[in-house]
Amino acid sequence: MIDEMFRKALANVRYPGFEVDIVAMDLVEEAGLQGGVAKIKLRAVQAPPQVREDLENAVAAAVMEIPGVKELQLDFPEPPKPKAEEPKGPHPVAGVSAIVPVASGKGGVGKSTVAVNLALGLARQGLKVGLLDLDLYGPSVPIMLGLKDAEPESDGNKLKPIEAHGLKVMSIGFMIPPEKALIWRGPLIMKAVRQLLHEVSWAPLDVLVLDLPPGTGDVQISMTQEVPITGAVVVTTPQDVALVDAVKGVDMFQQTGAPVLGIVENMSYFICSECDARHEIFGHGSVEPLCRKLGVDFLGELPLDTQVRQQADQGRPAVNGDSAASQAYRELAGKIKAKLVKLGAIKEVA
Ligand SMILES: Nc1ncnc2c1ncn2[C@@H]1O[C@H](COP(=O)(O)OP(=O)(O)O)[C@@H](O)[C@H]1O
Ligand SMILES: [Mg+2]
Repeated sequence: MIDEMFRKALANVRYPGFEVDIVAMDLVEEAGLQGGVAKIKLRAVQAPPQVREDLENAVAAAVMEIPGVKELQLDFPEPPKPKAEEPKGPHPVAGVSAIVPVASGKGGVGKSTVAVNLALGLARQGLKVGLLDLDLYGPSVPIMLGLKDAEPESDGNKLKPIEAHGLKVMSIGFMIPPEKALIWRGPLIMKAVRQLLHEVSWAPLDVLVLDLPPGTGDVQISMTQEVPITGAVVVTTPQDVALVDAVKGVDMFQQTGAPVLGIVENMSYFICSECDARHEIFGHGSVEPLCRKLGVDFLGELPLDTQVRQQADQGRPAVNGDSAASQAYRELAGKIKAKLVKLGAIKEVA
């Protein structure tokens, strides 16, 4: 609360050395009169001692002109000391055994759908699983899990993930609305990725699944700089254009020395609900040879199933159903789990 008389008086006080007044620069947090005492609270800012002193004197002079003011109580706190330098370079997330990003070169290939269903599929197998949505430009995990209005709380130190569907879930979409994401640039993105990985109470987890934005941009770079990757899953559709992008995706991980668990072919075929026939809409069979060429494993095919989309839109993921698609997602989760066990990242659980 800023009293109008105080606002006018303080608008005459310039920040020492600058053209701007302290009201305009939002330095005044509270100002008012209480029984002859002018109480003013300024925002904590880093300022040299001389600047602080000049500013305090200027505020006092301005306020003493206000009728009824006999005394001034000025609160102008020092900002908290910056935290000790955070560790540099990729380092494990405390209490998390395996980190599995789900990536694609192109948007709309089903990355988020795979990430959500993979996370749930792994949880069904008795693993402790977290899902982190890092798709700054189109976070879809909150919708797919019916968590649109979730607001993660802080325990004072770390942010608590939302617990839903047996998973620990965090989304960059919980923190910033997508329309704001467009103005985010390198350093901000880097900070957000670091916080979502290292300043969320994930532990204890066997696997943390990451849903990435499409392509090989800032978020991906930040991720590889922040955490060691256990193994990446690349999603593609059988279309040629998507395959070019899949190569780029695999290449990105290989360049940074991160293992690739394999490529999944999504929307591989369509099972007609009328005639039960299998239709290969996008031309099927191109992903497996590509995998051989790239030297990565083929993780299998997922059918195009209208229910998958409908359920995703309603916050009811497909993996729990009994359709061909549900089964395919569960098989995928089984393969990923086996690979993580083989890599020694997680232990076999009963
Ligand atoms: N196997 C599938 N069958 C039917 N629809 C799918 C399938 N996989 C994804 N979709 C739908 O396609 C759209 C894009 O999928 P999404 O997972 O959001 O892709 P991405 O994260 O790669 O952009 C969504 O509407 C989703 O429900
Ligand atoms: Mg997505």
